[in-house]
Amino acid sequence: MGDVMRKTSSTALWLSLLAFANAQKNGSQPRGKSGYEYVDPLIGTSNGGHVFPGATLPFGMAKAGPDGFGENQGGFDSADNMVYGFSHMHDSGTGGSASLGNFPIFAQSGCPNDDIQACQYPYFVRATERVNGSAHARPGYFDITLVNNIRTEMTVTNHTALYRFTFPETPVTPNTKLNPHILVDLRDLPNTKSASNVTVHAKSGRITGGGEYSPSFGIGTYRSYFCLDFIGAAVKDAGVWSNSRASRAYSLKTNPGDRRKTPSDRPEGGWVQFEKPSQGNQILARVGMSFVSEDQACTNAEQEVPKPDFDFHVQAAEAAWRSKFDVITIEDGGVSDVFLKAFWSGVYRSMISPQDYTGENPFWNSGEPYYDSFYCIWDSFRSIHPLLTLLDPHSQTRMVRSLLDIYKHQGWLPDCRMSFCKGNTQGGSNADIVIVDAYLKNISLGIDWNLAYEAVVKDAEVEPPNWDVEGRGGLESWKTLGYIPTENLDIQGVGTESRSISRTVEYAYNDFVIATLARELGHTADYQKYLSRSGNWKNMFKPDQRSIVNGVDTGFEGFLQPRYLNGTWGYQDPIFCSPLQEFTGCYLNPSGRETYEGPVWLYTFFVPGDMATLISTLGGRDRFVQRLNWFHESGVLYIGDEQAFLKVFLYHYAGRPALSAERAHQYIPSQFNDTVNGIPGNDDSGAMGSFEAFVMMGFFPNAGQDVYFIIPPFFESVSIKNGQTGKTATVRNINFDPAHKSIYIQSATLNGVPYTRNWLQHSFFLDGGVLELTLGPQESAWGTRPEDVPPSLGPFGHGNWTVQGRSATGVKGAWQMPKMDWDLSRGQ
Ligand SMILES: *[C@@H]1O[C@H](CO)[C@@H](O)[C@H](O)[C@H]1NC(C)=O
Ligand SMILES: *[C@@H]1O[C@H](CO)[C@@H](O)[C@H](O)[C@H]1NC(C)=O
Ligand SMILES: *[C@@H]1O[C@H](CO)[C@@H](O)[C@H](O)[C@H]1NC(C)=O
Ligand SMILES: *[C@@H]1O[C@H](CO)[C@@H](O)[C@H](O)[C@H]1NC(C)=O
Ligand SMILES: *[C@@H]1O[C@H](CO)[C@@H](O)[C@H](O)[C@H]1NC(C)=O
Ligand SMILES: *[C@@H]1O[C@H](CO)[C@@H](O)[C@H](O)[C@H]1NC(C)=O
Ligand SMILES: *[C@@H]1O[C@H](CO)[C@@H](O)[C@H](O)[C@H]1NC(C)=O
Ligand SMILES: *[C@@H]1O[C@H](CO)[C@@H](O)[C@H](O)[C@H]1NC(C)=O
Repeated sequence: MGDVMRKTSSTALWLSLLAFANAQKNGSQPRGKSGYEYVDPLIGTSNGGHVFPGATLPFGMAKAGPDGFGENQGGFDSADNMVYGFSHMHDSGTGGSASLGNFPIFAQSGCPNDDIQACQYPYFVRATERVNGSAHARPGYFDITLVNNIRTEMTVTNHTALYRFTFPETPVTPNTKLNPHILVDLRDLPNTKSASNVTVHAKSGRITGGGEYSPSFGIGTYRSYFCLDFIGAAVKDAGVWSNSRASRAYSLKTNPGDRRKTPSDRPEGGWVQFEKPSQGNQILARVGMSFVSEDQACTNAEQEVPKPDFDFHVQAAEAAWRSKFDVITIEDGGVSDVFLKAFWSGVYRSMISPQDYTGENPFWNSGEPYYDSFYCIWDSFRSIHPLLTLLDPHSQTRMVRSLLDIYKHQGWLPDCRMSFCKGNTQGGSNADIVIVDAYLKNISLGIDWNLAYEAVVKDAEVEPPNWDVEGRGGLESWKTLGYIPTENLDIQGVGTESRSISRTVEYAYNDFVIATLARELGHTADYQKYLSRSGNWKNMFKPDQRSIVNGVDTGFEGFLQPRYLNGTWGYQDPIFCSPLQEFTGCYLNPSGRETYEGPVWLYTFFVPGDMATLISTLGGRDRFVQRLNWFHESGVLYIGDEQAFLKVFLYHYAGRPALSAERAHQYIPSQFNDTVNGIPGNDDSGAMGSFEAFVMMGFFPNAGQDVYFIIPPFFESVSIKNGQTGKTATVRNINFDPAHKSIYIQSATLNGVPYTRNWLQHSFFLDGGVLELTLGPQESAWGTRPEDVPPSLGPFGHGNWTVQGRSATGVKGAWQMPKMDWDLSRGQ
């Protein structure tokens, strides 16, 4: 049940009762709560988290939530008190502009003096403060009361939002009788409307409409449609509104170019006024959504919410979430609730997007699943998709199929996508990594791997005309020079000519995973080609570059540096764009510099496929560990951006898994916790959440490879039931200490057999089993030998993918040692 320990044997039962009693004694909350009860959707709704806190199903299209001002990327900012409506679709955690939020509805108890013109219409006029402390959320349900004393509760089905308004018997505005007035506004959150229309069906009170809008971090436009119905009170009056005035006309249409100003400048929509509600002063509003048509929006609503039973749908949403959480069982060992809340909320947020729009695609109908809000894969490849592979392989399989179907119909894999539009590429072509990660982890049902291979090879070989939204730029230089030059000459395509360093290392890793797939599919020549290109990061490594901070030499030599077409080195201070120097200097714009959202210090560590060579290049293990320590301790690392995640675990490659565990505790809970401020950066569709979830479970993926780094779980034990095989894998701490003082693995066994590798393969989760980690208060020799570290191409790497303590039959990824095609002159 995803809750604290469920076992059948009576011994286990007693043990669990004992654990329960101990936990009680140690002063923490009563145990026995399920994962569902620990989730707080409000975590990350201020301080730049941009989390959507409203009601959604796992991967659902309908996402009902409040919309206001402030940092309203997800609709609602806990730090801002105003709410101007409730809308039915959102993206969560995005760093671009606010997303979706089309067709917000807003309720008023009545119009002063019974004058329809005295009600409030434009969003900036009607925006109302909330009652502080009135926002409550749990998965599938959100509840808030505004100072007009109207309470709004909301829940959803897959394509339909359902609201329950409770009106005060006595409206707070003077001279006002209770005659609820509910309007719908044709705007969206980022105010991008370029065409719209609305139709009011006066008798029934139904309002339908649609409009054309722009995506929040991409190009083009999209169309969206709604179908709004009410129940609970008789219709008194209805019409449309425009600017601050209401009309009793029943339709309104705005076309692009109809006026000098853009349509988005005119607030407009429909309204219905009601007699006093018949029961409990409540009115239900049902809003069906569609990207296809108004008719389909109505059909979605009618099919999904045939009866006005709000509580039934709250329970159905809860059941849908519980079934997602049920695959994880935690024995918490008496840890503070902070960890349990952060953990379960992280798992929850990892399943908000991508959104399942199957059946809603207006452009093609292939019978394949269609997911959207891959927002963005640059953020999600690192831990969201690997987490979904682990917890919900069925959904991950559908998402990979959808990516391939997008490739098939649009010619390219997306790197970012929202609202049927192409989103901005931040660096490499990272769908390549999602696809290869899936391949290595038995995500396979219905996936055409030849199509997948064609798609990733196209990313590597063919430059698109606009590489800001797909594929890669500078491919000619990439193939001939082996790096992306600063001020590159690129006549094949157009894109934002910045980030030459970060694009180089990301393209290199993209080619590494393509090499892996080439090997698996038997494309030997391609394998050699892409493996060789995966070493291109070395062409931007300047061995004598030093990093001087405030006049003091950090002592570390050798960093990535920009290079021109002619091979001459450029210069970017290795700390530039870190918190130590012009933190925000490297965003996605033409004046951005040679790294993206981070410094050279950070990107110099990005060689996920060949850490052994990187370690020797940086002066060997001890020197590497010193450098990584400086990176984590100097303030140069910002943990709130996804490229930081892997850096917590790179110690594993230097044979120091204990230091990875220390770093994990350095950041959790100080930077990831259970407060509304509780994530350090944009959640990016759950990326921060998936990081927290993995780290606290005690393993973290090197995405694109069949590798999970092992650290002790933050709980006494963690079990995951695999959705493909039905087997359960358990990681259990022996000598667990809920204060997390003993975080050092002294020894380990896998199914009773000693296990010395500091990493796991996915077969552990497919086959099930028990990994027992015996903990102590000091670093030990466990996992420190060269043969214990995860595989790499270079000198400390080894080509052995068989797993200790179990048979490795059926495991993909048998590694062939490649011929080394570069000179490791700086090796130790
Ligand atoms: C809610 O709290 C904020 C910040 O403390 C305050 O500015 C605002 O006036 C309060 N609103 C209400 C309705 O009490
Ligand atoms: C909602 O969509 C999911 C797929 O994303 C599906 O598994 C689920 O059954 C749907 N729920 C209902 C009630 O149809
Ligand atoms: C206006 O309504 C018609 C009929 O429902 C629809 O076909 C059209 O696409 C709508 N226009 C916009 C901009 O939504
Ligand atoms: C609670 O504290 C006691 C000592 O006071 C300790 O023996 C026990 O293991 C702790 N329980 C848990 C679940 O950590
Ligand atoms: C190489 O190109 C850069 C940038 O145009 C220029 O500053 C530098 O002088 C050139 N170096 C050589 C050796 O031509
Ligand atoms: C929780 O995390 C936030 C964001 O990283 C941080 O600013 C805050 O200090 C943390 N709070 C606690 C109590 O650790
Ligand atoms: C791989 O997944 C399929 C279902 O897609 C499952 O039947 C099979 O047992 C899995 N293979 C392994 C090796 O676990
Ligand atoms: C690789 O595996 C074989 C058994 O298949 C074992 O004999 C050998 O010692 C292993 N090598 C390393 C470096 O782990």
